[in-house]
Amino acid sequence: MFTLAHLSDPHIGPIPPPRLAELINKRGLGLINWYRKRHRHHRADVLEAIVQDMHAHAPGHIAVTGDLVNISLDTEFAGAARWLMSVGTAEHVTLVPGNHDAYIRRASGWAAQHWGEYMRGDDGAGFPFVRRRGPLAIIGLTTSLPTGPFMATGHLGGEQLARLAEILITLSREALFRVVLIHHPPIPNKRHYMKRLIDGPMFRALIAEHGAELVLHGHNHEQQLMWLDGPHGRIPAVGVPSASAIISDHDEPAAHNLYAIDGGPGAWSCEMVVRGLREGREITELQRKRLT
Ligand SMILES: [Fe+2]
Repeated sequence: MFTLAHLSDPHIGPIPPPRLAELINKRGLGLINWYRKRHRHHRADVLEAIVQDMHAHAPGHIAVTGDLVNISLDTEFAGAARWLMSVGTAEHVTLVPGNHDAYIRRASGWAAQHWGEYMRGDDGAGFPFVRRRGPLAIIGLTTSLPTGPFMATGHLGGEQLARLAEILITLSREALFRVVLIHHPPIPNKRHYMKRLIDGPMFRALIAEHGAELVLHGHNHEQQLMWLDGPHGRIPAVGVPSASAIISDHDEPAAHNLYAIDGGPGAWSCEMVVRGLREGREITELQRKRLT
């Protein structure tokens, strides 16, 4: 039995003081948003409690699906790199970036620069990449790109989708449990139109044709389970709340998900345990569900 842990959207704070010149773009709006709302809802002690609880369950591997930073200041990336090291080594942790990790065009390459070793395949390849861990093939995708003000959309792009198809076909010939990591959820809801994955329909068509065993995402800051069409039946796609969210009416409280994976092709078993924040900073089991 192999345990995979998933957390997302830590939105590590506080934001280091920016220089004025750094705010003359979308970042200025982001900073206002941080001080108006976000800084009250994301807390370092909550994030620490989530990571500690996750470590206590000794997962075989940890998946992190983006939005480590807030407005993509270069100083935020260095701080997030230190946090990543506290979660685990690049061998033990796989990261895909979110929209806040490429908040403006100038910051596009900074995630790779600071966190690159967590975002590459066993062969050193960039997105889309594959890492093999126990019975898992972990496939990392990026949807992270700069967008205009008030937008938080994501995009995979034709080249990445074409390569993903090849990877899924190749992996289907091996006895591996394919886990796809992607920041944006594959199906948006109407409330999240400005935050959607633009080529989500293409991604879903590709999964329907070539299959995967599990899709993990972040972005919505909600515990979400949606089912995607697959070639041999439906495929679970699971989202997790922000790993630093306090108990409030703004977002769902922080949680991490654990997946116990066993079996083999045609007979995989996957049980999900949701562990999250309750009153008094306690992290407890909130849900247990068999996905396959
Ligand atoms: Fe996001």
